[in-house]
Amino acid sequence: MNNERQAQILIVDDTPTNIKVLFNLLKESGFKVLVANSGEAALSNLEKATPDLILLDIQMPGIDGFETCRRLKDNPATREIPVIFMTAFSDVEHKVKGLELGAVDYITKPFQHEEVLARVKVHLKIRQLTQNLAEKNAELQQLTHSLEHRVEERTANLQRTLEELQRTQDQLVNHEKMSALGQLIAGVAHEINNPINFISGNLKYAEDYIQDLLDLLSLYQKKNPQPDSEIADKIDEIDLDYLLADLPQLISSMKEGTRRISQISTSLRTFSRSDTDAQVEFDIHDGIDSTLLILKHRLKGNDRRPAIQVIKNYGNLPEIHCYPGQLNQVFMNLLSNAIDALEESNQGLSKAEIEAEPNQIAIATSLDPSNPIAIISIRDNGPGIAEPIRAKIFDRLFTTKSVGVGTGLGLSLSRQIIEEKHRGKILCNSQPGSGAEFLIQIPINQCGKT
Ligand SMILES: Nc1ncnc2c1ncn2[C@@H]1O[C@H](COP(=O)(O)OP(=O)(O)OP(=O)(O)O)[C@@H](O)[C@H]1O
Ligand SMILES: [Mg+2]
Repeated sequence: MNNERQAQILIVDDTPTNIKVLFNLLKESGFKVLVANSGEAALSNLEKATPDLILLDIQMPGIDGFETCRRLKDNPATREIPVIFMTAFSDVEHKVKGLELGAVDYITKPFQHEEVLARVKVHLKIRQLTQNLAEKNAELQQLTHSLEHRVEERTANLQRTLEELQRTQDQLVNHEKMSALGQLIAGVAHEINNPINFISGNLKYAEDYIQDLLDLLSLYQKKNPQPDSEIADKIDEIDLDYLLADLPQLISSMKEGTRRISQISTSLRTFSRSDTDAQVEFDIHDGIDSTLLILKHRLKGNDRRPAIQVIKNYGNLPEIHCYPGQLNQVFMNLLSNAIDALEESNQGLSKAEIEAEPNQIAIATSLDPSNPIAIISIRDNGPGIAEPIRAKIFDRLFTTKSVGVGTGLGLSLSRQIIEEKHRGKILCNSQPGSGAEFLIQIPINQCGKT
Protein backbone atom coordinates (compact mmCIF):
# COMPACT_ATOMS: atom_id res chain seq x y z
CA MET A 1 0.00 0.00 0.00
CA ASN A 2 2.74 2.42 0.84
CA ASN A 3 5.58 1.90 -1.58
CA GLU A 4 8.25 3.62 0.43
CA ARG A 5 7.57 2.27 3.87
CA GLN A 6 5.27 -0.11 5.67
CA ALA A 7 2.11 1.61 6.96
CA GLN A 8 1.85 1.64 10.73
CA ILE A 9 -1.43 0.84 12.48
CA LEU A 10 -2.16 1.26 16.19
CA ILE A 11 -4.72 -1.11 17.72
CA VAL A 12 -6.32 0.15 20.93
CA ASP A 13 -8.40 -2.49 22.70
CA ASP A 14 -8.65 -3.94 26.19
CA THR A 15 -9.64 -7.43 25.03
CA PRO A 16 -6.58 -9.58 24.31
CA THR A 17 -8.44 -11.88 21.89
CA ASN A 18 -9.52 -8.91 19.79
CA ILE A 19 -5.98 -7.62 19.77
CA LYS A 20 -4.63 -11.00 18.75
CA VAL A 21 -7.08 -11.43 15.88
CA LEU A 22 -6.44 -7.97 14.51
CA PHE A 23 -2.69 -8.15 15.06
CA ASN A 24 -2.39 -11.38 13.08
CA LEU A 25 -4.66 -10.19 10.32
CA LEU A 26 -2.84 -6.89 9.80
CA LYS A 27 0.64 -8.32 10.22
CA GLU A 28 -0.08 -10.96 7.60
CA SER A 29 -1.29 -8.26 5.27
CA GLY A 30 2.07 -6.50 5.51
CA PHE A 31 1.36 -3.75 8.01
CA LYS A 32 3.49 -2.74 10.96
CA VAL A 33 1.29 -3.09 14.01
CA LEU A 34 1.45 -1.30 17.38
CA VAL A 35 -0.76 -2.23 20.28
CA ALA A 36 -2.21 -0.41 23.31
CA ASN A 37 -4.62 -1.99 25.79
CA SER A 38 -6.20 1.23 27.07
CA GLY A 39 -6.95 4.82 26.01
CA GLU A 40 -4.25 6.12 28.37
CA ALA A 41 -1.65 3.69 26.98
CA ALA A 42 -2.58 4.73 23.44
CA LEU A 43 -2.15 8.45 24.20
CA SER A 44 1.24 7.93 25.82
CA ASN A 45 2.32 5.68 22.91
CA LEU A 46 1.46 8.46 20.52
CA GLU A 47 4.00 10.76 22.15
CA LYS A 48 6.73 8.48 20.77
CA ALA A 49 5.30 7.13 17.52
CA THR A 50 2.91 8.47 14.92
CA PRO A 51 0.93 5.68 13.26
CA ASP A 52 -0.84 6.10 9.96
CA LEU A 53 -4.14 4.80 11.29
CA ILE A 54 -5.73 3.96 14.66
CA LEU A 55 -8.24 1.21 15.30
CA LEU A 56 -9.99 2.29 18.49
CA ASP A 57 -12.28 0.24 20.70
CA ILE A 58 -15.16 2.18 22.28
CA GLN A 59 -15.79 0.33 25.51
CA MET A 60 -12.65 0.23 27.65
CA PRO A 61 -11.97 0.66 31.36
CA GLY A 62 -10.46 4.10 32.21
CA ILE A 63 -11.02 6.60 29.45
CA ASP A 64 -13.27 5.09 26.82
CA GLY A 65 -12.83 5.25 23.05
CA PHE A 66 -14.89 8.41 22.63
CA GLU A 67 -12.80 10.34 25.16
CA THR A 68 -9.57 8.99 23.70
CA CYS A 69 -10.70 10.16 20.28
CA ARG A 70 -11.63 13.63 21.62
CA ARG A 71 -8.12 14.01 23.12
CA LEU A 72 -6.49 12.81 19.91
CA LYS A 73 -8.40 15.40 17.92
CA ASP A 74 -7.53 18.14 20.42
CA ASN A 75 -3.82 17.57 19.97
CA PRO A 76 -2.39 19.15 16.77
CA ALA A 77 0.27 16.41 16.61
CA THR A 78 -2.32 13.59 16.42
CA ARG A 79 -5.32 15.42 14.99
CA GLU A 80 -4.74 14.26 11.43
CA ILE A 81 -4.36 10.53 12.16
CA PRO A 82 -7.47 8.76 10.88
CA VAL A 83 -9.39 6.85 13.57
CA ILE A 84 -11.64 3.87 12.90
CA PHE A 85 -13.93 2.92 15.77
CA MET A 86 -14.50 -0.71 16.64
CA THR A 87 -17.89 -1.31 18.13
CA ALA A 88 -19.99 -4.20 19.22
CA PHE A 89 -22.98 -1.90 19.24
CA SER A 90 -24.91 -1.88 16.10
CA ASP A 91 -27.05 1.12 17.07
CA VAL A 92 -26.87 4.19 14.97
CA GLU A 93 -26.41 6.57 17.91
CA HIS A 94 -22.99 5.18 18.80
CA LYS A 95 -21.82 5.22 15.24
CA VAL A 96 -22.95 8.78 14.71
CA LYS A 97 -21.33 9.94 17.94
CA GLY A 98 -18.02 8.40 16.85
CA LEU A 99 -18.18 10.04 13.45
CA GLU A 100 -19.09 13.38 15.05
CA LEU A 101 -16.00 13.15 17.24
CA GLY A 102 -13.87 12.99 14.12
CA ALA A 103 -13.61 9.27 13.39
CA VAL A 104 -13.42 8.44 9.71
CA ASP A 105 -15.24 5.10 9.89
CA TYR A 106 -16.32 2.25 12.13
CA ILE A 107 -16.14 -1.56 12.01
CA THR A 108 -18.38 -3.86 13.92
CA LYS A 109 -17.48 -6.85 16.04
CA PRO A 110 -17.17 -9.66 15.48
CA PHE A 111 -14.68 -8.70 12.80
CA GLN A 112 -15.20 -9.63 9.20
CA HIS A 113 -11.61 -9.97 8.00
CA GLU A 114 -12.16 -8.77 4.46
CA GLU A 115 -14.19 -5.82 5.66
CA VAL A 116 -11.53 -4.81 8.19
CA LEU A 117 -8.82 -5.00 5.59
CA ALA A 118 -10.83 -3.18 2.97
CA ARG A 119 -11.70 -0.30 5.29
CA VAL A 120 -8.16 -0.05 6.64
CA LYS A 121 -6.73 0.10 3.13
CA VAL A 122 -9.22 2.67 1.92
CA HIS A 123 -8.48 4.99 4.82
CA LEU A 124 -4.76 4.55 4.51
CA LYS A 125 -5.04 5.45 0.86
CA ILE A 126 -7.15 8.51 1.67
CA ARG A 127 -4.66 9.47 4.36
CA GLN A 128 -1.78 9.18 1.92
CA LEU A 129 -3.58 11.19 -0.72
CA THR A 130 -4.50 13.86 1.82
CA GLN A 131 -0.87 14.08 2.93
CA ASN A 132 0.30 14.37 -0.66
CA LEU A 133 -2.26 17.06 -1.30
CA ALA A 134 -1.15 19.02 1.77
CA GLU A 135 2.48 18.79 0.65
CA LYS A 136 1.62 19.96 -2.83
CA ASN A 137 -0.47 22.72 -1.37
CA ALA A 138 2.41 23.91 0.78
CA GLU A 139 4.73 23.80 -2.24
CA LEU A 140 2.19 25.74 -4.26
CA GLN A 141 1.83 28.32 -1.53
CA GLN A 142 5.57 28.72 -1.33
CA LEU A 143 5.78 29.04 -5.08
CA THR A 144 2.98 31.61 -5.15
CA HIS A 145 4.68 33.50 -2.37
CA SER A 146 8.03 33.58 -4.11
CA LEU A 147 6.34 34.49 -7.38
CA GLU A 148 4.51 37.37 -5.71
CA HIS A 149 7.78 38.46 -4.17
CA ARG A 150 9.51 38.39 -7.55
CA VAL A 151 6.68 40.28 -9.21
CA GLU A 152 6.83 42.91 -6.45
CA GLU A 153 10.60 43.20 -6.87
CA ARG A 154 10.31 43.54 -10.65
CA THR A 155 7.55 46.13 -10.30
CA ALA A 156 9.61 48.14 -7.82
CA ASN A 157 12.62 47.95 -10.16
CA LEU A 158 10.53 49.06 -13.10
CA GLN A 159 9.04 51.89 -11.06
CA ARG A 160 12.52 53.03 -10.04
CA THR A 161 13.75 52.89 -13.62
CA LEU A 162 10.70 54.81 -14.81
CA GLU A 163 11.20 57.52 -12.20
CA GLU A 164 14.88 57.77 -13.06
CA LEU A 165 13.96 58.06 -16.73
CA GLN A 166 11.43 60.79 -16.07
CA ARG A 167 13.93 62.75 -14.01
CA THR A 168 16.55 62.45 -16.69
CA GLN A 169 14.02 63.54 -19.26
CA ASP A 170 13.01 66.57 -17.16
CA GLN A 171 16.64 67.46 -16.65
CA LEU A 172 17.30 67.16 -20.35
CA VAL A 173 14.32 69.32 -21.29
CA ASN A 174 15.27 71.89 -18.72
CA HIS A 175 18.91 71.74 -19.58
CA GLU A 176 18.02 72.34 -23.21
CA LYS A 177 15.82 75.28 -22.27
CA MET A 178 18.38 76.76 -19.95
CA SER A 179 21.30 76.23 -22.24
CA ALA A 180 19.42 77.83 -25.15
CA LEU A 181 18.58 80.80 -22.92
CA GLY A 182 22.11 80.87 -21.53
CA GLN A 183 23.68 80.80 -24.98
CA LEU A 184 21.45 83.58 -26.17
CA ILE A 185 22.25 85.71 -23.17
CA ALA A 186 25.97 84.96 -23.33
CA GLY A 187 25.91 85.86 -27.04
CA VAL A 188 24.14 89.15 -26.39
CA ALA A 189 26.51 89.98 -23.53
CA HIS A 190 29.47 89.27 -25.77
CA GLU A 191 28.11 91.44 -28.58
CA ILE A 192 27.47 94.32 -26.19
CA ASN A 193 30.90 94.05 -24.68
CA ASN A 194 33.00 95.00 -27.68
CA PRO A 195 31.24 98.25 -28.63
CA ILE A 196 30.89 99.29 -25.00
CA ASN A 197 34.60 98.83 -24.36
CA PHE A 198 35.21 100.80 -27.51
CA ILE A 199 32.94 103.66 -26.36
CA SER A 200 34.20 103.80 -22.78
CA GLY A 201 37.83 103.62 -23.96
CA ASN A 202 37.34 106.51 -26.41
CA LEU A 203 35.21 108.49 -24.01
CA LYS A 204 38.26 109.04 -21.86
CA TYR A 205 40.18 110.56 -24.81
CA ALA A 206 37.11 112.55 -25.86
CA GLU A 207 36.95 114.04 -22.38
CA ASP A 208 40.64 115.00 -22.51
CA TYR A 209 40.32 116.47 -26.04
CA ILE A 210 37.21 118.46 -25.08
CA GLN A 211 39.01 119.77 -22.02
CA ASP A 212 41.92 120.85 -24.25
CA LEU A 213 39.50 122.58 -26.64
CA LEU A 214 37.78 124.35 -23.73
CA ASP A 215 41.14 125.50 -22.37
CA LEU A 216 42.04 126.77 -25.82
CA LEU A 217 38.72 128.58 -26.10
CA SER A 218 39.17 130.31 -22.76
CA LEU A 219 42.70 131.32 -23.84
CA TYR A 220 41.25 132.88 -27.00
CA GLN A 221 38.63 134.71 -24.89
CA LYS A 222 41.36 135.98 -22.60
CA LYS A 223 43.54 137.21 -25.47
CA ASN A 224 40.56 138.56 -27.43
CA PRO A 225 38.05 139.88 -24.85
CA GLN A 226 36.23 141.98 -27.51
CA PRO A 227 35.42 139.55 -30.40
CA ASP A 228 34.09 140.96 -33.64
CA SER A 229 30.38 140.89 -34.35
CA GLU A 230 30.40 137.65 -36.32
CA ILE A 231 32.01 135.74 -33.46
CA ALA A 232 29.75 137.47 -30.91
CA ASP A 233 26.68 136.42 -32.90
CA LYS A 234 27.92 132.80 -33.03
CA ILE A 235 28.49 132.85 -29.25
CA ASP A 236 24.90 133.96 -28.78
CA GLU A 237 23.57 131.48 -31.28
CA ILE A 238 25.18 128.43 -29.63
CA ASP A 239 24.54 129.74 -26.10
CA LEU A 240 28.18 129.27 -25.22
CA ASP A 241 27.78 129.69 -21.44
CA TYR A 242 25.13 126.93 -21.29
CA LEU A 243 27.21 124.70 -23.59
CA LEU A 244 30.29 125.13 -21.39
CA ALA A 245 28.31 124.26 -18.25
CA ASP A 246 26.46 121.31 -19.82
CA LEU A 247 29.29 119.64 -21.70
CA PRO A 248 31.12 118.15 -18.66
CA GLN A 249 27.80 116.86 -17.26
CA LEU A 250 27.02 115.29 -20.59
CA ILE A 251 30.36 113.53 -20.64
CA SER A 252 29.97 112.26 -17.10
CA SER A 253 26.47 110.92 -17.77
CA MET A 254 27.84 109.16 -20.86
CA LYS A 255 30.51 107.62 -18.65
CA GLU A 256 27.82 106.54 -16.14
CA GLY A 257 25.79 105.05 -18.99
CA THR A 258 28.67 102.96 -20.27
CA ARG A 259 29.48 101.86 -16.72
CA ARG A 260 25.93 100.62 -16.30
CA ILE A 261 25.92 98.78 -19.61
CA SER A 262 29.16 97.05 -18.58
CA GLN A 263 27.54 96.03 -15.30
CA ILE A 264 24.54 94.61 -17.14
CA SER A 265 26.82 92.70 -19.45
CA THR A 266 28.71 91.27 -16.45
CA SER A 267 25.41 90.28 -14.84
CA LEU A 268 24.25 88.60 -18.01
CA ARG A 269 27.43 86.62 -18.10
CA THR A 270 27.08 85.74 -14.41
CA PHE A 271 23.58 84.42 -15.04
CA SER A 272 24.48 82.43 -18.09
CA ARG A 273 27.68 80.94 -16.79
CA SER A 274 27.53 77.36 -17.89
CA ASP A 275 27.94 74.70 -15.29
CA THR A 276 31.23 73.04 -15.01
CA ASP A 277 31.28 69.46 -13.83
CA ALA A 278 33.08 70.50 -10.70
CA GLN A 279 31.61 72.87 -8.18
CA VAL A 280 33.03 76.36 -7.77
CA GLU A 281 32.93 79.16 -5.20
CA PHE A 282 30.08 81.50 -6.01
CA ASP A 283 28.58 84.64 -4.53
CA ILE A 284 24.90 83.81 -4.26
CA HIS A 285 23.97 87.51 -4.23
CA ASP A 286 25.49 87.90 -7.70
CA GLY A 287 23.33 84.99 -8.82
CA ILE A 288 20.13 86.54 -7.43
CA ASP A 289 20.97 89.98 -8.85
CA SER A 290 21.72 88.63 -12.28
CA THR A 291 18.46 86.67 -12.25
CA LEU A 292 16.54 89.82 -11.26
CA LEU A 293 18.16 91.58 -14.18
CA ILE A 294 16.99 88.90 -16.61
CA LEU A 295 13.50 89.25 -15.15
CA LYS A 296 13.57 93.05 -15.19
CA HIS A 297 11.10 93.28 -18.06
CA ARG A 298 8.58 91.27 -16.04
CA LEU A 299 9.14 93.29 -12.85
CA LYS A 300 8.77 96.73 -14.35
CA GLY A 301 5.42 98.53 -14.45
CA ASN A 302 3.04 98.58 -17.40
CA ASP A 303 -0.33 100.12 -18.20
CA ARG A 304 -2.14 97.56 -16.04
CA ARG A 305 0.01 97.65 -12.92
CA PRO A 306 2.85 99.53 -11.28
CA ALA A 307 6.32 97.94 -11.02
CA ILE A 308 6.74 95.06 -8.60
CA GLN A 309 8.80 96.25 -5.63
CA VAL A 310 11.82 94.11 -4.94
CA ILE A 311 13.01 94.45 -1.35
CA LYS A 312 16.46 93.03 -0.85
CA ASN A 313 17.86 92.29 2.56
CA TYR A 314 21.17 90.58 1.97
CA GLY A 315 23.13 89.25 4.93
CA ASN A 316 26.80 88.63 5.19
CA LEU A 317 27.33 85.42 3.25
CA PRO A 318 30.63 83.86 2.27
CA GLU A 319 31.01 82.40 -1.19
CA ILE A 320 29.35 79.03 -1.54
CA HIS A 321 30.75 75.88 -3.07
CA CYS A 322 28.10 75.05 -5.65
CA TYR A 323 26.94 74.76 -9.26
CA PRO A 324 26.18 78.45 -9.99
CA GLY A 325 24.19 77.93 -13.21
CA GLN A 326 21.89 75.47 -11.45
CA LEU A 327 21.34 77.74 -8.46
CA ASN A 328 20.49 80.62 -10.81
CA GLN A 329 17.96 78.30 -12.39
CA VAL A 330 16.35 77.78 -8.97
CA PHE A 331 16.23 81.55 -8.34
CA MET A 332 14.73 81.97 -11.79
CA ASN A 333 11.99 79.39 -11.05
CA LEU A 334 11.13 80.87 -7.65
CA LEU A 335 11.13 84.49 -8.83
CA SER A 336 9.09 83.67 -11.95
CA ASN A 337 6.56 81.81 -9.80
CA ALA A 338 6.33 84.82 -7.46
CA ILE A 339 5.72 87.16 -10.41
CA ASP A 340 3.09 84.77 -11.84
CA ALA A 341 1.37 84.64 -8.43
CA LEU A 342 1.39 88.44 -8.07
CA GLU A 343 -0.05 88.85 -11.55
CA GLU A 344 -2.76 86.38 -10.67
CA SER A 345 -3.63 88.34 -7.52
CA ASN A 346 -3.89 91.54 -9.58
CA GLN A 347 -6.73 90.09 -11.65
CA GLY A 348 -9.75 92.34 -11.51
CA LEU A 349 -7.97 95.15 -9.64
CA SER A 350 -7.39 98.63 -11.02
CA LYS A 351 -3.90 100.10 -11.19
CA ALA A 352 -4.79 102.46 -8.32
CA GLU A 353 -6.02 99.57 -6.17
CA ILE A 354 -2.78 97.68 -6.79
CA GLU A 355 -0.78 100.82 -5.99
CA ALA A 356 -2.53 101.07 -2.60
CA GLU A 357 -1.19 97.64 -1.70
CA PRO A 358 1.80 97.23 -3.99
CA ASN A 359 3.10 93.94 -5.32
CA GLN A 360 6.24 93.00 -3.44
CA ILE A 361 8.93 90.37 -3.57
CA ALA A 362 11.22 90.29 -0.54
CA ILE A 363 14.53 88.51 -0.86
CA ALA A 364 16.52 87.92 2.30
CA THR A 365 19.72 86.00 2.88
CA SER A 366 21.43 85.07 6.12
CA LEU A 367 23.84 82.66 7.67
CA ASP A 368 22.42 80.07 10.06
CA PRO A 369 23.73 81.13 13.50
CA SER A 370 24.68 77.62 14.55
CA ASN A 371 25.56 75.81 11.31
CA PRO A 372 27.56 76.61 8.17
CA ILE A 373 24.36 76.91 6.18
CA ALA A 374 23.20 79.77 3.94
CA ILE A 375 19.50 80.59 4.16
CA ILE A 376 17.74 82.29 1.27
CA SER A 377 14.13 83.42 1.57
CA ILE A 378 12.05 84.55 -1.40
CA ARG A 379 8.66 85.86 -0.28
CA ASP A 380 5.81 87.43 -2.23
CA ASN A 381 2.58 89.06 -1.10
CA GLY A 382 0.50 87.26 -3.72
CA PRO A 383 -2.50 84.99 -3.13
CA GLY A 384 -0.53 82.35 -1.19
CA ILE A 385 -1.08 78.60 -1.53
CA ALA A 386 -3.93 76.63 0.02
CA GLU A 387 -2.87 73.61 2.05
CA PRO A 388 -4.05 70.80 -0.28
CA ILE A 389 -2.16 72.44 -3.15
CA ARG A 390 0.91 73.20 -1.05
CA ALA A 391 1.32 69.47 -0.41
CA LYS A 392 1.70 68.90 -4.16
CA ILE A 393 3.65 71.87 -5.51
CA PHE A 394 6.97 70.01 -5.53
CA ASP A 395 5.44 67.07 -7.44
CA ARG A 396 6.61 66.62 -10.97
CA LEU A 397 4.18 68.06 -13.53
CA PHE A 398 1.90 69.58 -10.86
CA THR A 399 0.67 72.95 -12.04
CA THR A 400 -2.36 75.16 -11.45
CA LYS A 401 -1.50 77.23 -14.50
CA SER A 402 -3.19 76.80 -17.84
CA VAL A 403 -1.72 74.68 -20.62
CA GLY A 404 1.14 76.50 -22.28
CA VAL A 405 1.73 78.74 -19.25
CA GLY A 406 3.07 76.26 -16.72
CA THR A 407 4.59 72.84 -17.19
CA GLY A 408 4.77 72.01 -13.48
CA LEU A 409 8.49 71.26 -13.66
CA GLY A 410 9.93 74.38 -12.01
CA LEU A 411 9.65 73.40 -8.37
CA SER A 412 10.32 69.70 -8.81
CA LEU A 413 13.57 70.50 -10.64
CA SER A 414 14.43 73.15 -8.07
CA ARG A 415 13.99 70.61 -5.29
CA GLN A 416 16.21 68.16 -7.16
CA ILE A 417 18.92 70.81 -7.62
CA ILE A 418 18.83 71.97 -4.00
CA GLU A 419 18.34 68.65 -2.23
CA GLU A 420 20.20 66.20 -4.44
CA LYS A 421 22.90 68.29 -6.07
CA HIS A 422 23.60 70.57 -3.12
CA ARG A 423 22.47 68.47 -0.14
CA GLY A 424 20.27 71.35 0.98
CA LYS A 425 16.59 71.82 1.67
CA ILE A 426 13.78 73.74 0.04
CA LEU A 427 10.53 74.45 1.89
CA CYS A 428 7.42 76.48 1.33
CA ASN A 429 5.49 78.39 3.98
CA SER A 430 2.21 79.93 3.09
CA GLN A 431 -0.92 81.29 4.69
CA PRO A 432 -3.49 81.55 1.94
CA GLY A 433 -4.29 85.21 1.42
CA SER A 434 -0.99 86.46 2.75
CA GLY A 435 1.54 85.34 0.19
CA ALA A 436 4.04 82.53 -0.08
CA GLU A 437 7.60 82.15 1.13
CA PHE A 438 10.15 79.76 -0.29
CA LEU A 439 13.08 78.97 1.97
CA ILE A 440 16.29 77.47 0.70
CA GLN A 441 19.03 76.13 2.95
CA ILE A 442 22.37 75.26 1.41
CA PRO A 443 25.42 73.98 3.24
CA ILE A 444 28.29 76.34 2.48
CA ASN A 445 30.96 73.71 2.07
CA GLN A 446 28.85 70.77 1.10
CA CYS A 447 30.21 68.04 -1.11
CA GLY A 448 27.19 67.59 -3.30
CA LYS A 449 26.67 64.76 -5.72
CA THR A 450 28.81 65.39 -8.74
N1 LIG B 1 4.84 81.97 -5.09
C1 LIG B 1 3.78 81.19 -5.33
N2 LIG B 1 2.52 81.61 -5.00
C2 LIG B 1 1.45 80.82 -5.25
N3 LIG B 1 1.50 79.59 -5.84
C3 LIG B 1 2.71 79.14 -6.21
C4 LIG B 1 3.91 79.90 -5.98
N4 LIG B 1 4.95 79.19 -6.45
C5 LIG B 1 4.45 78.05 -6.95
N5 LIG B 1 3.10 78.00 -6.80
C6 LIG B 1 2.20 76.90 -7.20
O1 LIG B 1 2.97 75.75 -7.42
C7 LIG B 1 2.70 75.19 -8.70
C8 LIG B 1 3.92 74.48 -9.21
O2 LIG B 1 4.96 75.39 -9.51
P1 LIG B 1 6.06 74.99 -10.56
O3 LIG B 1 7.03 76.11 -10.63
O4 LIG B 1 6.59 73.64 -10.23
O5 LIG B 1 5.27 74.83 -11.91
P2 LIG B 1 4.60 75.97 -12.79
O6 LIG B 1 5.10 77.31 -12.38
O7 LIG B 1 3.13 75.76 -12.74
O8 LIG B 1 5.15 75.59 -14.23
P3 LIG B 1 6.69 75.79 -14.76
O9 LIG B 1 7.48 76.36 -13.64
O10 LIG B 1 7.13 74.41 -15.11
O11 LIG B 1 6.56 76.66 -15.91
C9 LIG B 1 2.25 76.37 -9.52
O12 LIG B 1 1.45 75.97 -10.62
C10 LIG B 1 1.47 77.19 -8.49
O13 LIG B 1 0.16 76.67 -8.33
MG1 LIG C 1 7.17 77.70 -12.18
